[in-house]
Amino acid sequence: MTAPAIAVRGVEKSYSGVTVLHDIDLDIAPGEVHGLVGENGAGKSTLLKILGGAIRADAGTISFDGEQVSIGSPRDAIAQGVSLISQEGALVPALSVLDNVFLARWSQRGGLIRARTDRKRLAALIEQTGFTVDPGERVDRLAIGVQQQVEILRSLARGARVLALDEPTAVLTEHEKANLLGLIRRLAAGGTTVILVSHFLDEVLSVADRVTVLRDGALVRTGAAAEQTPRQLVRDMVGREIDVLYPDPRPVPEAAPVVLSARGLGRGLVQAVDLDVRAGEILGIAGLVGSGRTETLRLLFGADRGDGVVEVDGVALTRHSPRRSMAAGIALVPESRKEQGLVMVRSVSENVVLSSLPQRRVGPFVRKNAERDAVGTVSKSVDIRAADPGAAIETLSGGNQQKALFAKWLLNKPRVLLIDEPTRGVDVAAKTQIHHLITDLAADGMAVVCVSSEIEELLALSHRVLVLRHGRPVGEYPRGTSREVVVAAAFGDQEGDRP
Ligand SMILES: Nc1ncnc2c1ncn2[C@@H]1O[C@H](COP(=O)(O)OP(=O)(O)OP(=O)(O)O)[C@@H](O)[C@H]1O
Ligand SMILES: [Mg+2]
Repeated sequence: MTAPAIAVRGVEKSYSGVTVLHDIDLDIAPGEVHGLVGENGAGKSTLLKILGGAIRADAGTISFDGEQVSIGSPRDAIAQGVSLISQEGALVPALSVLDNVFLARWSQRGGLIRARTDRKRLAALIEQTGFTVDPGERVDRLAIGVQQQVEILRSLARGARVLALDEPTAVLTEHEKANLLGLIRRLAAGGTTVILVSHFLDEVLSVADRVTVLRDGALVRTGAAAEQTPRQLVRDMVGREIDVLYPDPRPVPEAAPVVLSARGLGRGLVQAVDLDVRAGEILGIAGLVGSGRTETLRLLFGADRGDGVVEVDGVALTRHSPRRSMAAGIALVPESRKEQGLVMVRSVSENVVLSSLPQRRVGPFVRKNAERDAVGTVSKSVDIRAADPGAAIETLSGGNQQKALFAKWLLNKPRVLLIDEPTRGVDVAAKTQIHHLITDLAADGMAVVCVSSEIEELLALSHRVLVLRHGRPVGEYPRGTSREVVVAAAFGDQEGDRP
């Protein structure tokens, strides 16, 4: 019998006295795709980080191919052929794709010749993976989904034997997801061992050979994927039967006035976007990566300035800026928590309060109390699981960071809520909570515009779905439209598109 590619024995990890991984034993075979699932904060990323050398276990051993190893740093892990694609991303923003892919080998000699062979190798890898990446582009100009592709390319360039992917599909649209899952199967067939962490249980079951469930830092069960159902997995993740049905939004009252209206929005790729959203209405925006969804939200918020006019309650926002928008009652929950939404070294409370500081300029003491109450209420409504609200955001699990990002904007009680990927990285139970939260806010009269790469989510949440393609609106679909119709609109009739 061949030795397991990875053998984890008795691994423990605590942070300031709180055990986050407890006595983990796990064997993963060479060429196996192993799914790892669990609620937000269950310890999935922590386990991957230990394998990837980003952090050290407090106890236990790890063996690769039957040999016990000591992984003290990412460098050690890379030397063992282990490559971790983390939730946070690990690229050098100001460098090109090419430079990032071959980063670790900079010190090697060979200058120009090296550059030429690197370029060839990268082209071959891009071909092999089916990715669409421009090798010369700076990575900070790339969408998150594409940045992740660069990380995968880098792992492959290093000849990784073990690829650990922490929620890789959270940032992908349908088509890219399918492509990545196909790539995972091909890599595994070629002998690469893959560990896949994901909150999309169907996807895990479709691609994994075996699945492990973690709950509160303990391993609940490992089993063959073919013998599991999403429902069983959820039960084991949460520890009880729960309903994961999405709520229906309340119908928009006949007389509900238009709150947010935009005419002729445009900038760069985005052209001629018109929209009206009434009080109590949830408008979904669908489209592929690069279709201009995020850009449309940014234009509505005034984060970027372009053509067209945005009105709130019939009043045009002149000299449109985020400040103006906030004053008019528009809030934006951005796509990337790291870069745009949260100050990672500050605490949950500080982050939640930061966004609402201008309105709260009352005496410092009054403010503290009001703050604490407000933070408590809001954190509770999105169920942020932080042992200590004073802990820095960067110590929270990925899903809890997403919830904090959400909470941050709710204190202002906006009239218009623009949300980009509301449940990215959030577990199935928390996701239903966020859906309830959004539909409740709408039922209270808020106008909501929501972008999501997950078609199911958009169809479940929205009263209407607007589809963008290449930056232009190509159709608007009422609630009840089938997934196929919306996906087809997002892709376009590729043949018919050609003149
Ligand atoms: N640097 C740290 N300091 C303190 N606590 C931490 C730190 N890193 C992680 N934790 C805690 O460890 C626990 C497990 O976190 P982990 O990131 O592994 O969860 P996860 O299963 O990946 O969740 P998610 O699905 O939200 O990504 C959480 O309670 C988290 O707050
Ligand atoms: Mg995680």
